[in-house]
Amino acid sequence: MGEQQLWTGVDEYLTALLAPRDEILEAALRESAAAGLPDIAVAPNQGKLLHLLALTQGARRILELGTLGGYSTIWLARALPPGGRLITLEYEPRHAEVARANLARAGLDKVTDVRTGPALDSLAALADEGADPFDLVFIDADKGNYPRYLEWALRLTRPGSLIIGDNVVRGGGVVEADSDDEAVQGVRRFLQMTADHPKLTATAVQTVGSKGHDGFSLARVLA
Ligand code: SAH
Ligand code: DHB
Ligand code: MG
Repeated sequence: MGEQQLWTGVDEYLTALLAPRDEILEAALRESAAAGLPDIAVAPNQGKLLHLLALTQGARRILELGTLGGYSTIWLARALPPGGRLITLEYEPRHAEVARANLARAGLDKVTDVRTGPALDSLAALADEGADPFDLVFIDADKGNYPRYLEWALRLTRPGSLIIGDNVVRGGGVVEADSDDEAVQGVRRFLQMTADHPKLTATAVQTVGSKGHDGFSLARVLA
């Protein structure tokens, strides 16, 4: 058995047990695929991890960068307590449109806000609005901008907030210091900034599964 086949088989086993079939989530993936969106949403068991982290965090305000079809958005928004809110930022109007339909089907349209445009512009707008601090930020948009996204995440959070970075391993590419892949350089700079920042305590974990070899980072904002 090839490695990828093995990882996929284990993910199928774990997912069937712990993130079982869910018509709303499956419809979100199906509609995303039908609309031609890339197949790069988090895996089901990773979505469940986001959900559990949001619950553990008691997150009332969640910010997501990179909506795609709203698959991870549904997992996160389902962890919101009554009165909670999630804002998700997406560059592609077509992705945002698919996501809004998926969120409406999930009954989450009242508690989520899909904002279209470059995330850097939407983040500046959030700061200008004087948005209340977010309890959890999930960074999953264009990897080259992760360093700037981290700076904004720090401005838009509070002590105790959790900042999650997706796709920080990239099949191992992250160890190539001289890589000319801007995604790799963006993630490396993001991890270095995370490590160096006096107000963050953080780790990163590599993962294998149905989506290949990748990983995520977790950082808590300190007082
Ligand atoms: N979080 C999603 C996957 C996001 S994929 C999930 O797991 O289900 C990354 C998304 O970031 C894509 O939809 C892409 O269009 C979007 N994106 C890329 N560049 C962006 C930018 N500058 N601002 C906002 N979103 C961006
Ligand atoms: C890509 C982006 C993602 O957010 C992801 O989880 C996997 C792949 C990409 O841009 O290739
Ligand atoms: Mg991702």
